[in-house]
Amino acid sequence: MKITHIKAVFYSATGNTETVVMTLAKALSAKLGAELECFDYTLPASREGTKQYGPTDLVVFGTPVYAGRIPNKMLPYVQSGFAGHDALAVPVAIFGNRNFDNGLIELRNELEAHGFHTIAGAGVPTEHVFSSKLAPGRPNEEDLAALEVFAGKIAEKVLAMTEIPEPIQVRGDDPVGPYYTPLGTDGKPAVFLKAKPKTHPDQCDKCGKCAQVCPMGSIPADAPDTCAGICIKCQACVKSCPTNAKYMDDPAFLSHVAMLEENYTRRAEAEWFL
Ligand SMILES: Cc1cc2nc3c(=O)[nH]c(=O)nc-3n(C[C@H](O)[C@H](O)[C@H](O)COP(=O)(O)O)c2cc1C
Ligand code: SF4
Ligand code: SF4
Repeated sequence: MKITHIKAVFYSATGNTETVVMTLAKALSAKLGAELECFDYTLPASREGTKQYGPTDLVVFGTPVYAGRIPNKMLPYVQSGFAGHDALAVPVAIFGNRNFDNGLIELRNELEAHGFHTIAGAGVPTEHVFSSKLAPGRPNEEDLAALEVFAGKIAEKVLAMTEIPEPIQVRGDDPVGPYYTPLGTDGKPAVFLKAKPKTHPDQCDKCGKCAQVCPMGSIPADAPDTCAGICIKCQACVKSCPTNAKYMDDPAFLSHVAMLEENYTRRAEAEWFL
């Protein structure tokens, strides 16, 4: 099958999904001699209209996993923003060392429902945005090398393909199961839906960086030490603040982080579906 374009698509609040998707997409572009294009839908201004694809495109579509699924605030855009028109696609679920649960199968199903043909898929562990004790430093060199090997196998599959295969079989519940309920150290649900980042007033110099990176557009540019809208706990503001002024202190959120650190520091492996 002749592919002329590799199209990398991702939402990535703190950069892990971008690194994984771009590594895979660049390797595919080189192996198939296809032009590389990139679409980052992290910021609200980018999430407009519907992108059109076609049968000579191979789309590497990445999402981080939030609560075992596609981030729920991004799901409406994933469902309305992309029309495949028989493009090939590789769904990739990036997760923070706990589990990708139903995130990959949900992404596969959404792509198939919107005109894409999924030919491969992957669940890729990375450092958790809530704690650097989970998969510290990942994706590392070894992870990136494994993504290049996977790209080689996908390229071979594409070159040998004479007709559109069945949707790729991936791990997960079909129909897609419920969101994962975050637990605290007491084993009970940790309810932190309404938690928002706080700002150390003496550390904030009002540079505005956090306002620029918030995927929900919830940090006002003229009052970046506040959070005026919905917070999805993505940590983009916390991680991007040059003076470490932003922090989360919600007790239920911190209890969930402690639970993750108690139970999920073991090494998670990537899962490849081809
Ligand atoms: C709100 C939220 C929920 C998350 N839920 C999960 C989860 O269920 N399982 C998991 O392994 N990682 C989970 N993570 C971790 C992210 O999937 C992981 O850190 C990923 O690398 C973030 O991607 P990014 O750097 O592209 O933003 C969650 C992160 C956030 C912000
Ligand atoms: S990035 Fe940090 S220092 Fe800059 S405005 Fe935001 S909280 Fe203040
Ligand atoms: S305010 Fe919430 S949604 Fe916005 S960048 Fe910070 S953690 Fe993410």
